[in-house]
Amino acid sequence: MSIAAVPPIERILFTEEQVNERVHEVAAAISKQYEGRDLKMIGVMKGSVYFLTALTRAMTIPVKIDFLAISSFASTRNSPGMVRIAKDLDEPIEGEDVLLVEDIVDTGLTARYLLQTLAGRAPNSLGIVTMLDRTSRRLIPLPIEFRCFEIPDYFVIGCGLDYKQRYRNLRYIAVMRQGV
Ligand code: PRP
Repeated sequence: MSIAAVPPIERILFTEEQVNERVHEVAAAISKQYEGRDLKMIGVMKGSVYFLTALTRAMTIPVKIDFLAISSFASTRNSPGMVRIAKDLDEPIEGEDVLLVEDIVDTGLTARYLLQTLAGRAPNSLGIVTMLDRTSRRLIPLPIEFRCFEIPDYFVIGCGLDYKQRYRNLRYIAVMRQGV
């Protein structure tokens, strides 16, 4: 199978500079809010890995990181399915200040499941930071403590977001071309 060297994009939604600027602003807000506390950032694989890395490198307080992976099954873009944890955290979170890190919150089903599951492990506090918030597709009301951008119902790639597992490594966020 040949892979086109040029990504199948319609247009760039946020440039590398725009993403970096917002990441630094959100990193500053989180650093301020959690100053003097022992913060653990939990990345949801795989999409959030790039955002978590950029965000924590821009933060000015020490942070711990951990990761989990989820499986969504019987799910398509237009039919959200069930969610389960496929790879759990390495360490307990009891008594800790925890921020779940997502690349995108869409229907909210994944975030709700993860927040409920993590809340059951008795953290001291629990919040969520997402790079993108696609509120128009939300099925469940969800408080989002920190977000970089709200976006319309676009299919986007880059900065961790994929199309068939590719294009996560683009440094910008782009709208996919229709009919790819
Ligand atoms: C994406 C994203 C969230 C979830 C959000 O993950 O990283 O975890 O979808 O969707 P929801 O709000 O409708 O539940 P995806 O399943 O694409 O996996 P990936 O991170 O490995 O790309």
